[in-house]
Amino acid sequence: MNYLFVLGRDPELSLLELECYFEARNIDYKIIEYSNEVALVSLPKLDFSRLIKEIGGTIKIAEIFSDSGNLSEIEHSLNNMKIDIDKRLDYAISSYNSSLQDFIREILKERFRKEKIKVFYKKPARKTDRFLTPSEIINKKLIENGLDIVVYKNNIARTIVIFNPFEYQERDLKRPKKDFLKTTSLRIARILVNLSYSKEDSTLLDSFCGTGTILQEALLNNINVIGVDIDRKSVDHSNENLKWLKSTYNTSKKFSIYPGDSTSMSQIIKTKVDAIVTEPYMGPFLKNIPSRQESEFIASKLRPIYTGFLIEAHKLLKKNGKLVIIMPKFGDLLMDPLRLTDLFNIYRPRISVKLPIPYILKNSIIERYIYVLEPKQ
Ligand SMILES: C[S@@+](CC[C@H](N)C(=O)[O-])C[C@H]1O[C@@H](n2cnc3c(N)ncnc32)[C@H](O)[C@@H]1O
Repeated sequence: MNYLFVLGRDPELSLLELECYFEARNIDYKIIEYSNEVALVSLPKLDFSRLIKEIGGTIKIAEIFSDSGNLSEIEHSLNNMKIDIDKRLDYAISSYNSSLQDFIREILKERFRKEKIKVFYKKPARKTDRFLTPSEIINKKLIENGLDIVVYKNNIARTIVIFNPFEYQERDLKRPKKDFLKTTSLRIARILVNLSYSKEDSTLLDSFCGTGTILQEALLNNINVIGVDIDRKSVDHSNENLKWLKSTYNTSKKFSIYPGDSTSMSQIIKTKVDAIVTEPYMGPFLKNIPSRQESEFIASKLRPIYTGFLIEAHKLLKKNGKLVIIMPKFGDLLMDPLRLTDLFNIYRPRISVKLPIPYILKNSIIERYIYVLEPKQ
């Protein structure tokens, strides 16, 4: 079966996330082609409700029911599409690299007129939006009680599951401890967890765990987690957040958080882990772009922390484990983990995405780069 995956804000990350998620689970997938917005993927039947919850970079997944581009075949498919509605139907179409949208709308209008169903074509509330947002699709119940069509080139698909931003907001707002300066975004945290090939029942370590965002997103994917942070308050906050998460979301997986320095963490953690995923300390909060001299100064403080951490990470990772790490760039000075030690190789994606992947955080002076690394033996 072929599916359209509508990709989130960072399409390269979203694509790589799909590759790593499917590879880690030995799922028989093929990313047939992709644009900046949509990936066409061949997959066996999966639990798609679970999949969309477990990945962070995909907005919706739609099942393709016509891909010929032949107008009479499209008309036939649309007329035979199963719709369990008797009186009123809300629907929307989002179209990427395709000129079929108007034709599809005409055919649907004609079908609904004949079937005496009142239809309402839903447009985004914001004029600048091209398509309905996930919140609008959820609020208008288009998936359960309506119809959301996605078109990519000649592929016409019906949305089956959608990313739920309300669940993320709720987790973000309701967790007991927040620290805006130290917190990784939930969506990025989820993507990083998947880039590390972590899956159910494996063990993931975050060595600069802060308030525990990466750990919480991993726990929700049924992964056991270990956290380390040098700051006692962060350790307490992570503990509180994860306790809250376990009781709220009912996960049976285990967590342990240790106070400690990641440059000597093998003294505390005695078992090997399947993955290390982390956004390390990136120096003092910057209000302005640093001069070359300031960048050099910050880098000179960070280098020993990063190098010490990488040496320890190599000791703690299983042979086939992965290290996913965000590294900062100050001006034109990139903290490249491959230059800091000679212990890791960079992961080579099967799709044509080049690592490291830059990742822009709004209102941040520092540029960030996401690395996926594999330990040299
Ligand atoms: C960017 S924050 C991590 C954010 C975290 N991913 C989250 O979402 O909450 C960096 C953390 O590294 C911790 N840290 C700094 N130096 C450290 C070291 N040498 N070992 C362990 N933790 C350290 C800081 O206390 C801070 O909590």
